[in-house]
Amino acid sequence: MSGGGQTTADSARRRALINSCGLTGRWLLATFETAERDKHNRAVIAMIRSWARWVRGWAESPNPVWAGGPAGKPGVLMYGPPGAGKSWIGACAVNMLVDNGVAARFLRTVDMPKHDTEAVEALADIERTPVLVLDDLGAEKRTERALECLYLVIDGRAHAEAPTIVTTNWRPDPLMGLLNAAGAGFGDKLLSRLHGLCEFVPVGGPDRRKL
Ligand SMILES: Nc1ncnc2c1ncn2[C@@H]1O[C@H](COP(=O)(O)OP(=O)(O)OP(=O)(O)O)[C@@H](O)[C@H]1O
Ligand SMILES: [Mg+2]
Repeated sequence: MSGGGQTTADSARRRALINSCGLTGRWLLATFETAERDKHNRAVIAMIRSWARWVRGWAESPNPVWAGGPAGKPGVLMYGPPGAGKSWIGACAVNMLVDNGVAARFLRTVDMPKHDTEAVEALADIERTPVLVLDDLGAEKRTERALECLYLVIDGRAHAEAPTIVTTNWRPDPLMGLLNAAGAGFGDKLLSRLHGLCEFVPVGGPDRRKL
């Protein structure tokens, strides 16, 4: 039966998307439906949820061009203290999108490929991935080469206006200083592109790892 065949193909695609989304274990269980909410995270969860819904529609359009989603820009940069739940919210977006058949990927900046020539292809892949959550910017070892790789990805996604979530512990100005400290002026360039690509949203609250 063709309907049955389609269902099998859909679930095979879903499985492939889950396998390549960069989330494992309990992170695959992070959903907007089950996320704990309080006065600190309620607004940002609502915002990222509506962003993810908008991205789902964007991905389904025949000629996807960014035309201003609910965040106003193609992406959102969440900044705030450790444990506030930034990565969890990013994972909720990835799981929701993958569940709807959209290729979304969660990537920690510490896992960004950077060391050898093979990295070039891997970086191009990341740059072109339809939806990217770039997690924990500023936690990576900031060699000049590492920042060049980050620049490549963020500049490419800014050009393409590709839906992107970034998380970081750093407020914008210190983040720029931190990235500049590795040399080559990447801090200014990266922050400028991040401002073009993302709405900057603070996420406060207690360290949920200690609750
Ligand atoms: N809304 C939520 N609902 C349920 N659990 C949550 C929620 N937010 C965070 N958590 C839990 O708290 C832990 C810490 O959250 P998370 O890793 O997202 O923090 P973070 O802001 O990314 O911290 P860091 O800046 O240190 O990376 C998660 O592993 C998860 O178990
Ligand atoms: Mg995190």
